[in-house]
Amino acid sequence: MAIFPKWTNSIPAFAFLSAAFGVVAVVSGFWVYATPKFWEAGYQPEQPISYSHQLHAQQLGIDCRYCHTNVEKSRIANVPSTNTCMNCHTIVDAQRGYLKKATAVEGESVHFKSAALQALRSYAASGDPAPWKRIHKLPDYVQFNHAAHLQAGVSCFSCHGRIDQMAIVYQQNPLSMKWCLDCHRSPAHNLIDKTQGRVTDLAWVQEQLNQDGYATSSGSLLAEKLSDSSRGAPPTHCSACHY
Ligand code: HEC
Ligand code: HEC
Ligand code: HEC
Ligand code: HEC
Ligand code: HEC
Repeated sequence: MAIFPKWTNSIPAFAFLSAAFGVVAVVSGFWVYATPKFWEAGYQPEQPISYSHQLHAQQLGIDCRYCHTNVEKSRIANVPSTNTCMNCHTIVDAQRGYLKKATAVEGESVHFKSAALQALRSYAASGDPAPWKRIHKLPDYVQFNHAAHLQAGVSCFSCHGRIDQMAIVYQQNPLSMKWCLDCHRSPAHNLIDKTQGRVTDLAWVQEQLNQDGYATSSGSLLAEKLSDSSRGAPPTHCSACHY
């Protein structure tokens, strides 16, 4: 069957317009499909274990670097292996008697039966890494380096937001070229005083950056001091990020 009935041939202008709209619809449909979700702000996939940063980073106060061990040393901020989780979870479980109940047919503890912890234990026992879904992801033709940014005094907060308040991680910023360049052109209001050593204390960082003068690009004395020559000026030439 033809897509356009025969009678449209007798109305060439209409046929032409329909075809044109058809092409536009197909192209924009493809565009929407072809653009990976993970380039968008707000991306929040379901994870294999319902692990919460809010519980671990904020309530329990575990530093980001306990798990993301490479973030200050390397380009890549690694995601921890299940061994890192089991450092605590065997102790926590054992102290509370949950491990004993592991052998019981009917464990009484609600906590023990938590589907999330059962999933964690089975990944840990199998030795396979937990198949965490990647959230923040740049296209391959962009170079990004975590260590360089942290050493310059840019906190996780400026790029990832209040991860420590997220029960499920989502992407807060678009990671677009414009987003990178906006900060590179005026970094002062995103630089924290590194001598405080609190680059991963997101609540503190947010408070600092919201202070008068810090948050404005005109800059206070402190903000200006922080963007002085002792730190590298963020590059804006193409080959810094594309090579
Ligand atoms: C107890 C371990 C642990 C701690 C502490 C921790 N994280 Fe994570 N983080 C994980 C795990 C596991 C994942 C992958 C699962 C997920 O996305 O929730 C992750 C994912 C992330 C992601 C998303 C990665 C991606 O795929 O894009 C970011 C960003 C992140 N963490 C930042 C932080 C920051 C900032 C802190 C400190 C405030 C922190 N994390 C503390 C374990 C931890
Ligand atoms: C520094 C210690 C520590 C580390 C490391 C740690 N946890 Fe936890 N986790 C805890 C404590 C403490 C609790 C709260 C236990 C409770 O309430 O009984 C908890 C709770 C949880 C829960 C909630 C269980 C429930 O009640 O449903 C899950 C799921 C969990 N952790 C997963 C993980 C994963 C996955 C990792 C590794 C990425 C991890 N944890 C690393 C200490 C830790
Ligand atoms: C200047 C912005 C910026 C800062 C600061 C920053 N990140 Fe990221 N983060 C990114 C970008 C961009 C990506 C995606 C990188 C890619 O795809 O190559 C990312 C990815 C990640 C990932 C996914 C795994 C990976 O390959 O890197 C984790 C985990 C993460 N960041 C944690 C952190 C933590 C923890 C901190 C603070 C200690 C932090 N980030 C600071 C921008 C930043
Ligand atoms: C919140 C501010 C901020 C954001 C957002 C940011 N940067 Fe930067 N970037 C900086 C600062 C500050 C420096 C200077 C570091 C130094 O002292 O050399 C820098 C330096 C760099 C450098 C040179 C150092 C190196 O890695 O060799 C590259 C490349 C770079 N950034 C890439 C990116 C890319 C790509 C993005 C976006 C995905 C991005 N940046 C987002 C603040 C930022
Ligand atoms: C600070 C880092 C940075 C610098 C400097 C930079 N880019 Fe990019 N560029 C990015 C990021 C991140 C992306 C991917 C995100 C996106 O597509 O918006 C990107 C994407 C692109 C794309 C693909 C656009 C698309 O929509 O698919 C082109 C083309 C490009 N850049 C060209 C350039 C040119 C030309 C320059 C120099 C004038 C430049 N870039 C400088 C970070 C940078």
